[in-house]
Amino acid sequence: MRRGSYAIIGRALSLSILLVCTLLAPCNSARASDFKREVIYQIITDRFFDGSTSNNNPSQSSGLYDATKTNWRVYWGGDLAGIQQKMSYLAGMGVTAIWISPPVDNLNTNIPDGNGNPTASYHGYQARDFKRIEEHFGNSSNTWTEFDNLVTAAHANGIKVIVDFAPNHSTQNNAGEFGALYDNGVLLGNFTGDSNGYFHHNANISGGGWDDRYQVEYYTLFDLADLNQEHATIDGYLKAAAQLFQQHGVDGFRIDAVKHVSWGWEYSFANSIYTFGDSFLFGEWYQASTSDPLYHDSYKFANKSGISLLDFPLNTAIRNVFGSNSNFSDIDSVISQEGGNFTWKEDLVTFIDNHDMARFLSINNNNNRLHEALAFTLTSRGIPCIYYGTEQYLHDDTGGGTDPYNRPMMVNFNTSTTAYQVINKLSTLRRSNTAIPYGSMTQRWLNNDVYIYERKFFGNVVLVAINKNETSSYNITGLNTSLPAGSYSDYLTALLGGFSIGVTAGSGGNNPVASFTLPAHTVAVWQFTEGTATPQIGSIGPTNGQAGVKVTIAGKNFGSTTGTVKFGTTTATVNSWTSTQIVATTPSVTNGNYNVTVTNSGGQVSNSIQYTVLTAKLIPITFTVNNASPTQVGDYIFLTGSTVELGNWSTTWDSAVGPMMTPNYPNWFTVASVPAGQTIQFKFIKIAANGAVTWEAGANHQYTVPTSGTGFVTVNWQY
Ligand code: NOJ
Ligand code: NOJ
Repeated sequence: MRRGSYAIIGRALSLSILLVCTLLAPCNSARASDFKREVIYQIITDRFFDGSTSNNNPSQSSGLYDATKTNWRVYWGGDLAGIQQKMSYLAGMGVTAIWISPPVDNLNTNIPDGNGNPTASYHGYQARDFKRIEEHFGNSSNTWTEFDNLVTAAHANGIKVIVDFAPNHSTQNNAGEFGALYDNGVLLGNFTGDSNGYFHHNANISGGGWDDRYQVEYYTLFDLADLNQEHATIDGYLKAAAQLFQQHGVDGFRIDAVKHVSWGWEYSFANSIYTFGDSFLFGEWYQASTSDPLYHDSYKFANKSGISLLDFPLNTAIRNVFGSNSNFSDIDSVISQEGGNFTWKEDLVTFIDNHDMARFLSINNNNNRLHEALAFTLTSRGIPCIYYGTEQYLHDDTGGGTDPYNRPMMVNFNTSTTAYQVINKLSTLRRSNTAIPYGSMTQRWLNNDVYIYERKFFGNVVLVAINKNETSSYNITGLNTSLPAGSYSDYLTALLGGFSIGVTAGSGGNNPVASFTLPAHTVAVWQFTEGTATPQIGSIGPTNGQAGVKVTIAGKNFGSTTGTVKFGTTTATVNSWTSTQIVATTPSVTNGNYNVTVTNSGGQVSNSIQYTVLTAKLIPITFTVNNASPTQVGDYIFLTGSTVELGNWSTTWDSAVGPMMTPNYPNWFTVASVPAGQTIQFKFIKIAANGAVTWEAGANHQYTVPTSGTGFVTVNWQY
């Protein structure tokens, strides 16, 4: 019943959005599964704008609101209606997607802090019911009205909506509502006396545990009641909640604490979302740098799960370089290292600051440097995400400006600040020149203060020069570029001190730029877009899916007449076709990795892009092997097997499933998302610290995957 009626609401909504789009405003028709051309703006809903005073102190959770805005840890009045009212401010800035705080119904009670002061879940990270909207953000009946209104208004302004979704936990397990979880108003389970096993009951993650895969995924994050996603009820509940948001029109999900949820389960979570419809997913995998012990796990996850990540290593480098004046080589080396590791690097979400760290101006109160960092994130590799208020130079430096002082109330909505203009201009460039969303990133000139880099996608080129020194200019000689011979004016029209350059013809993609002086604190952007050429694919999304899943292929020069899309040699059904974006359906072919190509109506064939055809919809299964091969420190047990989901019998760290975890040594386990209804063959292997591979003996293990829910399979290592 409920499913049916939501589907009808969904249809009615999209119909009205369609009408609003054609009649009133140009819509952003790019599909969410091609997110590379978007500029994201991150909003802490409670701290943006109070659009309705009627929801400031709702009866079911009264006393959590501070009208004086002096207690930073309670609600201050911002709401979904407030964001809706500021839609033209956002659109005018060039924002094309908003990421809002978790909008779901949160903790209703006050949990006093150590000094007896009230605290509340104004940030949204203590969900009690994932299927209702928080009363402080919407209305006192916890219905979806204000949420739907926001989505409709956003879409009418060409703005996509991303919700923050926190599948790791419910509320605090030792105070307040003690983790109690509700399913659309009905109590599902309590953390205490959890006879169903809906929660994990381990200690808080601490010390070395932050680098230990088992503790990271299965221990408790900051006292928050840790959900057991391997329980079919919790699995089904979280997937249904995400789908409800899709039915209400959301375009994507920022997955909170993605590193702390069972990684293998998350593959099936992503698959469930993509099976239902068009979406973009990125997760919060916190890590300070590419030297983090779990860095390798992070890019293996991003390469295979269909979930992109927030780019924390680059964030650290951006803050070091622009905030603390370290050498530009810090940024350059992260870009090049991640470039070698992440298959889908252009999908990484890049940022200067967020709600969990001091705002940029709190670490360096210098607007020039903020502008430089902004221009960098808007033109470098990845999808830029701007923290609310950055364009108004918002910051409060109390206590170093960290949480909660990095979450002040927005006060100004001034559309003429330099930052607002810079964002607007560079957002336009991201739409008009494919080098920004899809292109390579190459360093062309570097010293401590100067970074000149080039973005290039086929013949489309953007060259960016930044001098972060506050007082010294630099003479730039010997600079080469792929920009064709000619004269180029600054795309930012001197907003950040830029000027024109001249380029003469050279060879091998190295055209000399006439020497110039790059003044102190300057950013200049020069660009070139080529005319019609052969079809060029820059993006595919999602990056994996089973037969029937719709895939968005984006790029340039596809032509206005429908041509052909091939997965390997198999022609796929085309659902829609424009010269920059094609939607095709994953064909029924043998599971595995395919090169996808586009052939235009004139017979010209594009470059290819990788896509993984899954065997079937994914079901999360917990695999345990008891008494596995004797291991030394640094050796790990992995799972490998007969389908692409299990690595097709491969035996490398990056292609087999694992490393598995061993909380009960010598028994090892992992969750792997495997094809529903299929009988799979599998075995366990040891990959030793030195890389040597040992197979268990005997015949392959065999298991028939259920068609829904979750599953468990335990075997003994065969000697
Ligand atoms: C990370 C979020 O960004 C942070 O603000 C939150 O408190 C934790 N996850 C827990 O949900
Ligand atoms: C855990 C270690 O990380 C792993 O490498 C080792 O094989 C087992 N403990 C046994 O020592």
